[in-house]
Amino acid sequence: MSNKSKVAVIGVGNIGTAVATNLVKGGRSVIVANKEIGKAKALAEKLGELVTPMEVADAIKAADIVVFAVWFNTIKELFDTYATELQGKIIVDPSNPIAPDENGGFKKIIGEKESAGEILSSLLPAGTKFVKALGSLGAGSLTSAAFQQPEKAVLFYATDDNTLTTPIEELIRDNGFEPVQIGGIDQSIRMEVFGDLHEFGALGKTVTLAEAKLKV
Ligand SMILES: NC(=O)c1ccc[n+]([C@@H]2O[C@H](COP(=O)([O-])OP(=O)(O)OC[C@H]3O[C@@H](n4cnc5c(N)ncnc54)[C@H](OP(=O)(O)O)[C@@H]3O)[C@@H](O)[C@H]2O)c1
Repeated sequence: MSNKSKVAVIGVGNIGTAVATNLVKGGRSVIVANKEIGKAKALAEKLGELVTPMEVADAIKAADIVVFAVWFNTIKELFDTYATELQGKIIVDPSNPIAPDENGGFKKIIGEKESAGEILSSLLPAGTKFVKALGSLGAGSLTSAAFQQPEKAVLFYATDDNTLTTPIEELIRDNGFEPVQIGGIDQSIRMEVFGDLHEFGALGKTVTLAEAKLKV
């Protein structure tokens, strides 16, 4: 039996599906949950026996690491709804605080200088630990660049808690990417959409470790 942290992915849309699919490719078990459990069951059916569908509360209880692959405002709601179940868990936030604009693009739904990472870290349920991760690429690249050869592509992460280095870097490697920490949560804005370390910001593409080191 693996001694790796147990991972639950909450939300099986673009990002949740990409993360669960990558983890299965990486040989890692994953629990999946969704507002409607039917979608989680369908994904598990498709991906095979490493994937276990559960109701959201049960998924959080069963996991060590909870990836909130849902929209920014939904994460805030879920912090309140599942504050008890989340105690003792590592929360992973891939969110970008954006919504569609009137021109068919996206706009930020928080202040220009604010980040989802900093806002969410100020709202954490008691006894939780927090990492900004798995959101620095679009869902397309998160799928297509996973396990890239000969050099892996990078996923950036930020945290104020050094005890999370091992579980988070393991999670990113099992997704088929090279982890690069950019600093603490106050750096989150750099790896959210429009930031200089986001695929849909100044970075503009996936990067290898050597390229990432020049940017960070
Ligand atoms: N898409 C990207 O390229 C990308 C890139 C980087 C980061 N992100 C971030 O990743 C997060 C997810 O984005 P996405 O594109 O994957 O969104 P999405 O495709 O809309 O998926 C969101 C998922 O969350 C589920 N959900 C909604 N409310 C829920 C609740 N209360 N409890 C449990 N599950 C719930 C939805 O279920 P239903 O379908 O049943 O409503 C859906 O499966 C967002 O914060 C986004 O900013 C996205």
